[in-house]
Amino acid sequence: MMKAITGTRDIFPDEIPKWNYLQSIVESVFTNYNYKEIRTPIFELTTLFARSIGEATDIVGKEMYTFLDRSGESITLRPEMTAGVVRAFIEHSIDKKQNLNKFFYSGPMFRQERPQAGRFRQFHQFGAEALGSNDPLLDAEMIIMAYDIFSLLGLKNLLVKINSLGIPSTRENYKNTLRKYIKPHLEKLTSESKKRFHTNILRLFDSKEKNDQKIMENAPLLIEYLDEESLQHFEKVKQALLSARVPFEIDARLVRGLDYYTDTTFEVVSGSVGSQSALCGGGRYNLLVKELGGGEIPGVGFAAGMERILLACENENSFTLEEKKLDLFIVALEKGLEKVAYQSAVNFRRKGLAVDLDYQNRSVKAQMREANRVNARFVLLVGGDEFTKGEIVLKNMSNGEQQSFAKDDFEKIFSTIKG
Ligand code: HAM
Repeated sequence: MMKAITGTRDIFPDEIPKWNYLQSIVESVFTNYNYKEIRTPIFELTTLFARSIGEATDIVGKEMYTFLDRSGESITLRPEMTAGVVRAFIEHSIDKKQNLNKFFYSGPMFRQERPQAGRFRQFHQFGAEALGSNDPLLDAEMIIMAYDIFSLLGLKNLLVKINSLGIPSTRENYKNTLRKYIKPHLEKLTSESKKRFHTNILRLFDSKEKNDQKIMENAPLLIEYLDEESLQHFEKVKQALLSARVPFEIDARLVRGLDYYTDTTFEVVSGSVGSQSALCGGGRYNLLVKELGGGEIPGVGFAAGMERILLACENENSFTLEEKKLDLFIVALEKGLEKVAYQSAVNFRRKGLAVDLDYQNRSVKAQMREANRVNARFVLLVGGDEFTKGEIVLKNMSNGEQQSFAKDDFEKIFSTIKG
């Protein structure tokens, strides 16, 4: 039997309504904050991700789906969208048309991680990127939008964590301080953390190992070394969150798994989904546009995992959707009338009704059972004595009432169903 690739999922029709509901909330919130949708390719040159996310990150180092295409070019399925959005922004000189550009997106992303609850190899993100301003109000706007989306979904068990990673020079100085602190403990660290000590020392804060965590407990924190400008920036973000009534916590140990961040970083975690608890993450990246060959244009953004969000909604039972009913099921009462039933279905569908009928040559009883099973609001009975008299019967399935119409009085039948 052919099976789907590990870490990928099929989404069947019964799940689609909640995906569409999430998508509609995402679009309405982003539209209210004046973000415009952008769609970029699902694959890009590998170097784009290596240069933006960072060679030493887990994503680039061990999680990307990278392959040589037939012309020998190294291609990667996008593990996230920020790099692609920034590439598109630079390539098409979008900043020449207007200074501040606010984008949103949604779609599939790919990372070869170990699959578990809430973690997939093909997963879906929605997110936003604002390019062209260093205003801390935009950093806060990202967090507020995420919070609004989660609140509209009815999610409760949330924690907003924010931090500041400062500017690169602060971070480099701090890394030296951290190295000095860790050096005497180096031999006690796990081999993974030892590696990170050399390649990406900040990620030591992410270690899940008890012993590593114990060592990191007393480590100096970057937030204590921020310069005046970064501190003020961070302060303004906090003020904006307070005035928008978004509860948050400062987490000085929050280091994100991507290298492009400067100053503000944040995550929103849910207490309802187990260990893969980050529903979204993001932050400011003031050097990325330049790094990818564009001008000195600051940016800020975030992305959220849609599978995780829907899992949190399910676990919290945070919303229920009304099942969409079929408007009409057409039943042919006699052999030979299938064509009439079929043509009526086409006509009503073209008028905008959701209509179905039998395609399996089934008995009238079986057709009526099917009408019930699909929850049809009305059933049109084509055939019988009425039909020979030139009439057609419409049955209202909610109260059982039947009404006769002249069989070609299509408009009247339509308006009765439409209600
Ligand atoms: P990220 O933290 O790597 O950030 O991913 C954002 C969110 O995507 C995570 O919080 C999580 O909900 C979801 N996610 C990530 N990996 C998986 C996975 N394997 N399975 C299911 N969900 C997953 C970024 O991607 C940045 N581009 C965010 C950003 C935008 N920063 C600035 N702008």
